[in-house]
Amino acid sequence: MAAKDTDTAEGLHVAIIMDGNGRWASQRGWPRLFGHRRGAERAKQIVEACPDLGVSHVTLYAFSTENWKRSTEEVIGLMSLMGRVIRREAVTLQAEGVRMRFIGDRAPLDARMRNLMKWIERTSQENTRLNLTVALNYGGRDEILRAARALAQDVAAGTLAPEAIDEAQLAARLDTAGLPDPDLVIRTSGETRVSNFLLWQSAYTEYEFTPTLWPDFTPEEFSGILDRFRSRERRFGKAST
Ligand code: FPP
Repeated sequence: MAAKDTDTAEGLHVAIIMDGNGRWASQRGWPRLFGHRRGAERAKQIVEACPDLGVSHVTLYAFSTENWKRSTEEVIGLMSLMGRVIRREAVTLQAEGVRMRFIGDRAPLDARMRNLMKWIERTSQENTRLNLTVALNYGGRDEILRAARALAQDVAAGTLAPEAIDEAQLAARLDTAGLPDPDLVIRTSGETRVSNFLLWQSAYTEYEFTPTLWPDFTPEEFSGILDRFRSRERRFGKAST
């Protein structure tokens, strides 16, 4: 049976740039990978908190197209951590009703990783309690470029007229097709950059920056940020009331 794309009861879509794992580890004199490991535990805790906090979609920035520039040891360590997390959490995802998806370019990832991603997406596709999206080898510009290429191919094939290209046509070719735009992006660790995350999708998104390093980001702080977000007035370009 084909899964529906956006079938979770409407809640917030929160996207998170989980920054500061390396600094958290360095502050303790530990290897950076220890920080990522602690960061993965934190990610699990934050994901688990989502349904009770009114969050129906959560998107986590786990590996950017720029992260390949890190040391081979860190890249391999991060990839194998991600693989371990998927395998270890598969049963819990089912039990908790979490649908897991990935965005980003899968082509450069190794075949085992790609198969694992496909497997967890397929086995969790009927789950509706929470939509978890992991951005893996993801870059906003890269995603828009791939969508533009797909549009160009359809035009060249004669299945799409150039005049028919509108926002919906482009959005339908993004990795996030079928997902709502994020309401809120949170970035930890005190950095105040967007870093190529969800560039198209965040046109009207609110941002929250916290100095807390990702491994120290608690569900309590998350809940406080959501409370603050809910008290903001979102205007989507309209005049204030
Ligand atoms: C940024 O901190 C963090 C990352 C690039 C990796 C985040 C990945 C995880 C927490 C694993 C999560 C796994 C799943 C499946 C969701 P940084 O290394 O840039 O920190 P720094 O800025 O202090 O160096």
